[in-house]
Amino acid sequence: MSLFKKKKSDRILPQHVAIIMDGNGRWAKKRHLPRTAGHAAGSKTFKDIARYANKIGIKYMTVYAFSTENWKRPQAEVDNIMGILRQYLKDTDQFKHENIKLQFIGGRERLPEDIRELMAKAEEDSKDFTGMHLNIAVNYGGRDEIVTAVKKIIAAGTKPENVTDELISKNLYTAGQPDPDFIIRPSGEYRLSNYLIWQSAYAEFWFSDVLWPEFGPRHLEEALDSFSDRNRRFGGV
Ligand code: FPP
Repeated sequence: MSLFKKKKSDRILPQHVAIIMDGNGRWAKKRHLPRTAGHAAGSKTFKDIARYANKIGIKYMTVYAFSTENWKRPQAEVDNIMGILRQYLKDTDQFKHENIKLQFIGGRERLPEDIRELMAKAEEDSKDFTGMHLNIAVNYGGRDEIVTAVKKIIAAGTKPENVTDELISKNLYTAGQPDPDFIIRPSGEYRLSNYLIWQSAYAEFWFSDVLWPEFGPRHLEEALDSFSDRNRRFGGV
């Protein structure tokens, strides 16, 4: 094996990178700051990483911003994360300038109405953008997504023999997108936490101890180099 890193041009990039943005709370705690400061720092990292990923040619990225389980957090923290999301959506130049196509995945019924409207507007405004397709998972849970898909399939009167992998995929929030082939989780946790559980069947994983607010382009580069080095066989030989 060469001692030199692969030339960037020889590198195989994943088609779809999914990130669990974990460690905001611990980052804040280490600095004797409130958890809200951790989410603010995490939000900045999110914007920097999305911009960088778009620049280097990643086609699809999905980030976990708020899970179906996160409602159990103190109301003030839930409000804080919703506030960060609201601010991001109001500052539409963020993604317009970057040519990033935005999509939100997860159930919207439980979200504040103004956020639902801002989400719909951001999706509409960016629908023809040709840069990276960025999914932001809000009130998202993988099991909830599969249950929702099954309900739609049954409601459409589908015969059991017509239920296939493809049909289920087509009824998920990520319909029409390639499955994530690379999942990144920082902060020293080694779990999927109900994230893209159907779509990640063949994904490669990359874990790191770095906390999300400290995750920078160099960590993404390190992860992408690792992805490129892996021999992907999809169960074959
Ligand atoms: C997990 O860290 C992080 C969250 C539940 C929230 C992530 C949200 C953001 C980074 C803001 C996203 C904003 C936009 C605009 C998409 P944690 O709080 O569980 O950290 P801990 O495990 O250290 O406590």
